[in-house]
Amino acid sequence: MLLGTQHINDRGHLEIGGCDTAELAEQFGTPLYVMDEQAVRDNCRRYVTAFAEAYPGESKVTYAGKAFLIQAMARLIDEEGLGLDVASAGELHTALTAGFPAERILMHGNNKSDAELAMGLDAGIGRFVVDNFFELRRLSAMAVARGKRQPILIRVTPGIDPKTHRRIRTGQEDTKFGINISEGSALAAVTEALRDLPGVELTGIHCHIGSQLLDPHTHEQAIEVMCAFLAEIKKTTGFTVADLDIGGGLGVRYLESQDPPSYEEFAKLIVGRLLSELKKHDLPLPRLWQEPGRTLVAEAGTTLYTIGHTKRVLLPDAPGERFYVSVDGGMSDNPRPQLYDAVYSAMVANRAGQPKDKTVTIAGKHCETDILIWDLPLGDTDAGDLLAVQTTGAYNQAMASNYNRFTRPAVVFVRNGTADVVVERETLDDVIRQDRLPARLRK
Ligand code: LLP
Repeated sequence: MLLGTQHINDRGHLEIGGCDTAELAEQFGTPLYVMDEQAVRDNCRRYVTAFAEAYPGESKVTYAGKAFLIQAMARLIDEEGLGLDVASAGELHTALTAGFPAERILMHGNNKSDAELAMGLDAGIGRFVVDNFFELRRLSAMAVARGKRQPILIRVTPGIDPKTHRRIRTGQEDTKFGINISEGSALAAVTEALRDLPGVELTGIHCHIGSQLLDPHTHEQAIEVMCAFLAEIKKTTGFTVADLDIGGGLGVRYLESQDPPSYEEFAKLIVGRLLSELKKHDLPLPRLWQEPGRTLVAEAGTTLYTIGHTKRVLLPDAPGERFYVSVDGGMSDNPRPQLYDAVYSAMVANRAGQPKDKTVTIAGKHCETDILIWDLPLGDTDAGDLLAVQTTGAYNQAMASNYNRFTRPAVVFVRNGTADVVVERETLDDVIRQDRLPARLRK
């Protein structure tokens, strides 16, 4: 499986963005997050174009920054003309300090603090996605105090249970996110926003059903529920919803066997269903907002590790043995296998063409059983070889930690044979930077 601009060069090395990964490892060290800039840009353009062409109304794509957000990424998303979703003060700060235009920012969060609400209001962000009544009333009051009227979407829960890992489902009724449609609370929130809260200007409705969805059927179900809700709003309040945001969620290839729909197929299905549901309820075309995260960046990311110690363990049952191959990172740079039983593909980057005739287990180096990949067809390896784990562009660097006081890896953007460091590798001094020794404990 080769993704984005990945290819195997004449030396048998994996190359990304025209850069030889063995040279990247030598120059920048490992573990190293490598982002294929062209692949991210191509994904952004293709996603936007697919929907612009399929949907006769206005279509807005806002990148969900939680998947991977650093200043360089905010710049790239700005250059590509997408909007940007942020979900915390830290993400908002990253975007604003990178010069991302505030009016194209959407702010999420199920428990936004007053400081976060104030920061978004004062920056003039495009929309808050209001998650609950508490936030709705607070935001309105804070906006009124500033003499403002803040455009908002209200996040609702459509009551759909997608087929994905239980920790990344959000559309079902039993969730911490959003306001429930079926019990009437969502309609009550809309009514209150329209009638009683002068600080907010309700422009639309939002939902997000889950992540790493390989089957767009769940998105279609959500559209059905959302359109019925838009009709109910119109009937009860007379208000025509201008913005319909259906969140993100489209899945990616972690394994060659996974087969998410292409953007063009996805757009056709989503738009087809949306148009038929709108027609059924005699509704005009809303602006269609989407918040793809993973699909725009996951396959563009590759993590390079150096292989160290390997060992063979004899097992009582078939296949009778296991080969542990240890690498110089693990759950601090990629917690997903442990959190979500996530699966990955990998290759020996400095012998990328070799037959994958031996199955190994890739072990991290934390003081835990931090297995990155349990059964990986890889072939032979030696200490010093380079392992390239694919599809690590989303929710890896974004979720990295300093567990065991590891230094977090650097990130490089590669494009047309050039590699730029966009996040420096942490140093040992960075690890202790926030530590303080009170006088009584000093030596
Ligand atoms: N919009 C909202 C409101 C979201 O909560 C999310 C993801 C997205 C958009 C983007 O979804 P995507 O297109 O990336 O599926 N850490 C987990 C994934 C958590 C997703 C959280 N919300 C993982 O590593 O699988």
